[in-house]
Amino acid sequence: MTAPERRNTLRWVKLLNLDHVAIAVENLDRAIEGYRNRYRVEPLYRERVDEQGVVEAMIPVGGSFVQLLEPLGGETPVGRFLSKHGEGLHHVAYAVSSIEAALEHLKGEGARLIDETPRVGGRGARIAFVHPGDLAGTLIELVELVDG
Ligand code: CO
Repeated sequence: MTAPERRNTLRWVKLLNLDHVAIAVENLDRAIEGYRNRYRVEPLYRERVDEQGVVEAMIPVGGSFVQLLEPLGGETPVGRFLSKHGEGLHHVAYAVSSIEAALEHLKGEGARLIDETPRVGGRGARIAFVHPGDLAGTLIELVELVDG
């Protein structure tokens, strides 16, 4: 692929912004309290997302969010993450304008996808995860927000 062709392809997955940084926590209330006391920030809302086995709180910071994730049980992905690593950075989420186009592009690049097709995340957004083994040891979530 020539350089101009490559740039054309990349246009399809333009990352619009850093949507959120997600942190796995043992106890959501305690984590919210910690952020409130240390940084004087408040969650905009909290939401139970059964599809992902979490209760999450979204704390706005500038144009992005800090997403605090408490697992609904030990046998959920975040529950297993906590047993293995303890609390800490779980994933980084980038907003894209079209998740299908992004997944198509990534498949073409041979990326190691966790989700071949989009699923439903918090805020009713359409999301897909890319395996941390794919790039720089980071679990990446792509987010297409439904209402802008
Ligand atoms: Co997320």
